[in-house]
Amino acid sequence: MREPQFHALSQPGDAAQAAREAAAGLLAPQAHSHPKWFYDRLGSHLFDAITELVEYDLTRNEAEIFIQHGPAIAGALREWLPARPTLIDLGAGSCAKGERLFALADPGRYVAVDISVDFLRHSLACLQRAHPDRELHGVGLDFSSQLALPDSLSSPGSLVFYPGSSIGNFAPDDAGRFLHEARQLARGGALLIGVDLVKDAAELEAAYDDAIGVTAAFNLNLLRRLNHLLGADFNPRHWQHLALWNEQAQRVEMHLEAREALTVRWPSHERAFLKGERIHTENAYKWTLAGFEVLLRQAGYARLQPWTDARGRFALWLAA
Ligand code: AVJ
Repeated sequence: MREPQFHALSQPGDAAQAAREAAAGLLAPQAHSHPKWFYDRLGSHLFDAITELVEYDLTRNEAEIFIQHGPAIAGALREWLPARPTLIDLGAGSCAKGERLFALADPGRYVAVDISVDFLRHSLACLQRAHPDRELHGVGLDFSSQLALPDSLSSPGSLVFYPGSSIGNFAPDDAGRFLHEARQLARGGALLIGVDLVKDAAELEAAYDDAIGVTAAFNLNLLRRLNHLLGADFNPRHWQHLALWNEQAQRVEMHLEAREALTVRWPSHERAFLKGERIHTENAYKWTLAGFEVLLRQAGYARLQPWTDARGRFALWLAA
């Protein structure tokens, strides 16, 4: 049996850098936090639980597309890419979606990239047992501000996989930059990317504010994470989860709102919050098919193929 190979590119575990970044967000006039901080161990489990909620149908819609259009997707991958391409899975996490793509893409090499390198180590060790002969690589990398891997990890005509509508965390300009970087990473290959589509505001808000409070727990868990990163004294009981559809910006916003006036302290800093003041914790941009096509073309993709679920709620694009 082979062994997964690990490559440390940035130090996602660099605690001092993480603390500086988190503190700067909290001290900004409009306090904010980057969604990447959601995914500690508990946060990753809470996100998995979110994907089981009736209100949150993104994951099921994307899975439906892979089932409904599996043969067409496999055909396009065979036609557009060299045999046995390198598969680069961005935000691989449990590697479950990447593994399902093995049957459609038959990759010669699988490169799983994630900020949570410990979680990834565990995922790849399990994956190698199920696929003893596949060449597996793990890369611990925070690619939220820049996406680049050494050429030795990719190969000409690679398949870059970015499922789940994680692209929704990027504002349109940053999304365009990211798609451009993904195109360079593919080295003449293709990008396979999942994008949640604009739909009714009430449904979108429910997807991010479910009846039994799993998403609220996911959002509030950020405060535990910030306590850990900064040595801060957030009390999650003093905060309330909010999810709002911002029609103008075409995004769902998540916030944490102070239930009362309070001050949060951490070594050598503090931040006072008024009652009702918010920390902006996530944006989930939603796209139309037409809007995302423009974004892909502007990022330099010329050959485009979208598939959607039967109800037109989610899109999977192959772009080269
Ligand atoms: C993992 C970024 C795709 O925005 O839908 C789910 C994260 N946040 N519920 C999303 C999330 C709250 C999710 N992404």
